[in-house]
Amino acid sequence: MSDSAQPDDFEAAFHRSAERHERAWVMVSIVLLTLLLAGTMFFVVFDYGVIVRTEGFRRDPAVLADTSQGLVQTGPNAYAVQMVGHLWAWTPSPLHVPQGAAITFHVTSTDVLHGFQVQGTTINITAVPGVTGAVTYTFSRPGTFNIICNEFCGIEHQAMLGRIVVDPGPPPKVTP
Ligand code: CUA
Repeated sequence: MSDSAQPDDFEAAFHRSAERHERAWVMVSIVLLTLLLAGTMFFVVFDYGVIVRTEGFRRDPAVLADTSQGLVQTGPNAYAVQMVGHLWAWTPSPLHVPQGAAITFHVTSTDVLHGFQVQGTTINITAVPGVTGAVTYTFSRPGTFNIICNEFCGIEHQAMLGRIVVDPGPPPKVTP
């Protein structure tokens, strides 16, 4: 700084410099965040692919609502059931299933997100409107199991209960 420079000039020069640095760092931050976002999106797509809903997952709401069929046999020791969550109950309930058989639950919702969880088992799947998810489980002991909703779905969420009754049956046949 020369002798002729006034304190005002010094202050003005200081602010000009600070603004320049501030602008530079803002630009650096924007560039870094953009790279981070692009990189994250790239690796998510690279790892999981782009997931598009296909017709295979879609179901007619009228068909979804019709659970009058209940449990249907699909194999020698296999059954399937359409399980529907709605405000605020699970249908069908109570559901009777045989012990020792593979039960496939096709789970969906007619309104909002619900969480299909059966206490004392590993069954835990989200019920999504317009989409059917499937989970297969074999109940090895007879008894009554509670279905609860583990996805907050409104004022009666905590009362959204269902029941599965596992009827005692012969142990599955073992072929030598
Ligand atoms: Cu249904 Cu919470």
